[in-house]
Formats: sequence, C-alpha cells, structure tokens
Amino acid sequence: MPDLPLILRGVPDPMIVIGADGLITDMNPAARGLFGDWALGRDHGAVLRQPPVLAAIAAVLGGEGEGQADFTRTQRGRDVLYRVTITRLTEGAGLLHFADVTHIGEAEEMRRGFVANVSHELRSPLTALMGFIETLRGPARNDPEARMRFLDIMEEEAQRMNRLVSDLLSLARVEGTERQRPAHPVDLRGVLEGVAATLKGQAEAQGSKLEITGETPAPIPGDRDQLTQVFVNLTENALKYGGPNRPVTLALSEAAAGPGFRHPHLRVDVIDRGAGIEPAHLPRLTERFYRVDSHRSRAMGGTGLGLAIVKHILNRHQGKLTIRSRTGEGSVFSVFLPKGSAD
Ligand SMILES: Nc1ncnc2c1ncn2[C@@H]1O[C@H](COP(=O)(O)OP(=O)(O)OP(=O)(O)O)[C@@H](O)[C@H]1O
Ligand SMILES: [Mg+2]
Repeated sequence: MPDLPLILRGVPDPMIVIGADGLITDMNPAARGLFGDWALGRDHGAVLRQPPVLAAIAAVLGGEGEGQADFTRTQRGRDVLYRVTITRLTEGAGLLHFADVTHIGEAEEMRRGFVANVSHELRSPLTALMGFIETLRGPARNDPEARMRFLDIMEEEAQRMNRLVSDLLSLARVEGTERQRPAHPVDLRGVLEGVAATLKGQAEAQGSKLEITGETPAPIPGDRDQLTQVFVNLTENALKYGGPNRPVTLALSEAAAGPGFRHPHLRVDVIDRGAGIEPAHLPRLTERFYRVDSHRSRAMGGTGLGLAIVKHILNRHQGKLTIRSRTGEGSVFSVFLPKGSAD
C-alpha cells in the first residue's frame, strides 16, 4: 500500500494517498486535521463526497496523468475553498494535494463586486445623458425653455461622472501609496482652517455655521494633501447629512497614549447635529460604495467613496477613525493621528 514519504509529512497542506482499491491508505497530519483520523482506511468516496472531486479522481486514476478540482469545506464557521490537485501514482493509486485558495476567491469576488459597482454608478448618469440627447434631438428641439432645463440636468449628470472618476483615481492613488509612511511635518490646525475656508461657501449656502475649536498643536508627521482630503470628506458629509441650519464643529484635542492607542495622538472630532445613523450601518460605512440611503445620497451627488478614501488615508498614517452616532441627535466622526516624530 502506498505511503507518503517522510518528507511530505511536514507539508502544511493536507495530502491524502488513495490506494488502487479506492481506500485511503495514508494522510499527513494536515489532512488528519481537515478530515479527522477516522478517514484513514475508509473509501475515499465516503470521505470526500463532493461529485466534482470524485469525478476528477476517477478520471485521473483511470488513466489521465493529473487533474484538478475544487473542494469546499466549512471550518469554524468559515467557508474554505481548496484546489485539489490529483496525481496518478503507480498501479492506479493516487495522491491528493489540497491548497487553500479561499483568499484568491475572495479577491476575485471583491474585484468583480467593484467592477459591477463602478459600472452601475457610471451607467446611471450615462443613461440620463443619452435620454436627454434623444429628447433634445426630438420633442424638445424647438422648445428653448425645455432645452435650457435639460442642459442643466445634463451638466449635473456629467459632473457626477466627473466626481466619480476623480474619487476612483484618488482611491487608487492612496491605495498605491499605503505602504510608504508619510513623514512631512503637518500643521493640523492649519489643515482644518484650510478645509473650513474651502467649505465656507457650501456651509453658508445652507445656513450652517462651521467652527473649529482647540489649541494649535505641534506639527505631526503626515501628508498634508491627504489629510486635507480626510477632513474635506468628513466635513462635507457633516454638512450634507447634518442638514441645513445646523452647526458643524471640528474639535481638535491632544491625548496621551492609553488603552486603544500606544502613542500620544491628536484627535479631531467632526461633529454634526443631523439625523444620525442607525447602529446597524456603522460598521459598513467605510466600505466602498456603501450608502445608508442610496437615493438620498445620490440625490446629493454622493458616490459612497468618501469614507473609503478616509479609511485608506488614515491606514497610511497609522491612524484610525471611530464613528459614534445617535439617531435624531447627530454623529461624531473621530480621527486619531499618532504624533510621532516628523522625521
Ligand atoms: N455625518 C453623517 N451623518 C449621517 N450619515 C452619514 C454621515 N456621514 C456619512 N453618512 C452616511 O455614510 C454614507 C457613506 O459616506 P461617504 O462619504 O463614503 O459617501 P457619500 O457621501 O454618499 O458619497 P461621496 O463619495 O460623495 O462622499 C453616506 O451615503 C451616508 O449615508
Ligand atoms: Mg461623502
């Protein structure tokens, strides 16, 4: 009966030998961990059970040199996907090697989801634009008033596409630099003042006051443009979802190292007094394209990438974001940035 050579016992991937009679004649420790000791000496069909694997085994042992099949198993509540490679040994015996390829499947799944989301987000403004072009050519051709109105809507839709593309580009840029730790000295108070100046018009237009509180701390290591983007995104959200005539506060403070933070850090709370967010949504807000109310957010020109960008930038700074919210009272998005040394 074929056995696994000693050298293969130490391989961390599960491996199984099937004898010419179809019984499992040997398993390495990883395979015992996966299937249990009882499997040794059993018919492989009773142990493996999944038809695609059994069919591949039959084909290989019946004469084809090598084959592969997928095998799934739930381990500790998690679905694990194995790629099983089947090799024919002498006299109708075979060797099975199980490689955990779950992460490849997950990455592929994420990529597919991302492409689907992007296409969907681009398609809706595109469909609107195409519809209006049609209308302008046809029914609205001789109606100057309708023409102007439609052109306004078309401009808005084109701007939405433009925003989406620039958000996607900044996300890609941030992801591309995530490994390099930014280390230029940044005056965080100055960043907040810049953000407030940029968004002043938007705040005034909706009757909201934008205030900054806190002392000016010493510079911290960082990337000024990226940190500006963090606070633009958070403050825009606070204004957008905080509602008209409600103040928005950017509160800057310093804190020593403590539980949850190994180093002294700066903290900025972006506080709004809006409708707040249901607790169920909080853990998912920083996912790409995640929106609590996609109709409402879309109507306000949102694509759901703002917080995903914030999260990536903070990762790069070894910082962190926490979100607290009470429905009916408002939300606090807190940014923590390590002080470190700006070298
Ligand atoms: N201050 C807030 N109050 C209530 N809901 C918020 C707040 N900030 C974010 N949200 C919710 O989180 C969702 C995701 O925010 P995010 O900034 O990532 O996307 P967005 O604002 O929809 O689009 P954009 O990409 O233009 O920023 C929003 O759609 C909104 O539902
Ligand atoms: Mg946003």
